Amino acid sequence: MKMKRCLMIGAGGMARGWIRTFYPNFAERCQIVALVDIAPKPLNEQGDFLGLPKSARYTDLKKAFAQTEADYCTIVTPPWAHRECVELACARRLHILMEKPIADTWQDAVAIYRAVKKVGIKCTIIQNYRYNATMYTFRQVLRSGRLGQLNYLMGRFAADYRKYASWGAFRHEIPHSLLVEGGVHHLDMLRNLAGSRCVQISGWEWNRPWSSFKGESNASYVMKMANGVVAHYEGTCSGTGHQNSWHREYYRAVCEKGEVVIDSDNALRLVIRDNATGALTTEEVPLVQPPFQGHNYVIDAHLKWLSGGPKPETAIDDNLHSNAALFAAIQASSNGVVVDVRAMVKKAVGRG
Ligand SMILES: NC(=O)c1ccc[n+]([C@@H]2O[C@H](COP(=O)([O-])OP(=O)(O)OC[C@H]3O[C@@H](n4cnc5c(N)ncnc54)[C@H](O)[C@@H]3O)[C@@H](O)[C@H]2O)c1
Repeated sequence: MKMKRCLMIGAGGMARGWIRTFYPNFAERCQIVALVDIAPKPLNEQGDFLGLPKSARYTDLKKAFAQTEADYCTIVTPPWAHRECVELACARRLHILMEKPIADTWQDAVAIYRAVKKVGIKCTIIQNYRYNATMYTFRQVLRSGRLGQLNYLMGRFAADYRKYASWGAFRHEIPHSLLVEGGVHHLDMLRNLAGSRCVQISGWEWNRPWSSFKGESNASYVMKMANGVVAHYEGTCSGTGHQNSWHREYYRAVCEKGEVVIDSDNALRLVIRDNATGALTTEEVPLVQPPFQGHNYVIDAHLKWLSGGPKPETAIDDNLHSNAALFAAIQASSNGVVVDVRAMVKKAVGRG
């Protein structure tokens, strides 16, 4: 595989992890050749770590795109800044690996999708939670057919972010904070477990006077998937009781012949009721280790794609469906209606 040159956009909280934890695992396959951040402090901290010369550190996006010779860019800026980065990447025909969500509005997510399709570049979105050993194994159990067909799914995220800035200050300021910054992972996971796309969604997002958020920080939704599976999502950033925070979310899949459950202890269990005796058996499932976990899995898949390999599962074509579910959820709540997600995607893709 030829070494790929990467223009890295963003040097903040999550980008620090990319630069110091994820990308070093791929030192033989890609190299960060330039770095951009509008804030000089993180730019120089991460620039020093990478050993980048001053000439390869930028506070100006346009200059960075104009002056950098790269094969692709990695976008790890806040969601509202994704569109500008993507449009500059498209103008240079640079492939894109970017953090979720595609954007912070459906209008921008669709504009990004169309820009990418118009120039025919490769664009992959990070959905790292699909590829942790626990959820990777959960999905394998469902796909193995051992418990028969999937009936319905429950998903729960509950984190105690009652202190302002405990979830990064910007998330306490933006509208739809839970859905845009968190829920997109969970709605994507429910799609991933269902092995389908959301066609309809209904429910509510809301805020309460005592929360530390300005935007909506609670959610309760029901999704109908194209294959008939129904999925329920409960989410809160004001979790005052049992915690199901990041990497410890609760998921339960009710199947024809039993249930698969995971809770905050991260043990994956099958619970099966004997139809004749009524006896319950609980079995802990040994975890299957994917070749790469979390972000690393998606980075590996993207680099393979750039070298002529298969399209990753979370390429923008698929990921648009998770973002559609997210923005349909916002619409469902504000209008008090069931939203036709399939029609939303069709309209976006059809005019592409
Ligand atoms: N996949 C995950 O598990 C995960 C976890 C956390 C964050 N994220 C995602 O990562 C992205 C960044 O989040 P974060 O927590 O790192 O935010 P952050 O605020 O910590 O860092 C963002 C950085 O982007 C810089 N920036 C803002 N606008 C810019 C622009 N126009 N050009 C260049 N730089 C710009 C900021 O100065 C800051 O340093 C978001 O899309 C978020 O949803 C993903």
